[in-house]
Amino acid sequence: MILCRKIDEVKNILKNLKKQCKSVGFVPTMGYIHEGHISLVKKALEENDVVIASIFVNPLQFGPNEDFAKYPRNEKRDLAILDSNNVDIVFLPENDEMYGNNFLTKIRVDKLSDVLCGKSRPGHFDGVCTVLSKLFHIIEPDRAYFGLKDYQQYIIVKKMVSDLNFNIKIVGLPIVRDDDGLAISSRNIYLSPENRKTALCLNKSFNIVENLLKNGILEPSIIKNKIKEYILGFKNTRVDYIEIVDTETLEPLNEFKENFLLALAVFIGNTRLIDNRIFSLKSYNC
Ligand code: PAF
Repeated sequence: MILCRKIDEVKNILKNLKKQCKSVGFVPTMGYIHEGHISLVKKALEENDVVIASIFVNPLQFGPNEDFAKYPRNEKRDLAILDSNNVDIVFLPENDEMYGNNFLTKIRVDKLSDVLCGKSRPGHFDGVCTVLSKLFHIIEPDRAYFGLKDYQQYIIVKKMVSDLNFNIKIVGLPIVRDDDGLAISSRNIYLSPENRKTALCLNKSFNIVENLLKNGILEPSIIKNKIKEYILGFKNTRVDYIEIVDTETLEPLNEFKENFLLALAVFIGNTRLIDNRIFSLKSYNC
């Protein structure tokens, strides 16, 4: 596995590979590599000649009171995991390398960035789009891989790529869960054993929705209230949002469409976790 810390270095390596007509799959990460990232790497390996992963904890996507400083980092462990999973190249730039030269540019996808996580984390998706635009320009991959746990991020990145004519296919892959159903996230490490158990309420609330749909309850507001009541029944929980939205526009739905996204952001203690599921009314004979 080749490790590059400099933009010119990684560009040169990729230029040579592209001359040889190699296809490039890209897995952007903020490190603290877990099974979710590895599922992206595996798909990228299946679909491309060369796989490159980036590790960069992007300061632009953290708000002033968020966890940038304490976001989990472990370079040695990450490199060992990526190497043992057959990643070809890792791009691991320092902050100065990415933003050092009086950086003034911001990329923003309107509307889609203002709802759900964008509402509670203003500027977050501008930071994500800005760093991804840079990474896409540096790496010029054929395909880039994203986990659908960050469903909103996936939709926003697809829109940015289409609006700005990046020649990149954005691939979204299913949420990877621990055996007990908790969606895997680098932030799960913050959870105490007790809060780790409580965190299962996010995933379990999807079962509540299934039961309500099976019983013909088709009112988004009733369903959201039932989930809220259920989650707040656990100690140490605080709901950031529970939303039922259109799967493409992310606009809130007052009436169900055939497919809808249920998206949750919940604080368990001080840790903010997100989860989501797409429901299809057809599967409940509605
Ligand atoms: O999903 C993430 O880990 C980050 O938002 C990403 C895509 C690596 C951009 O910093």
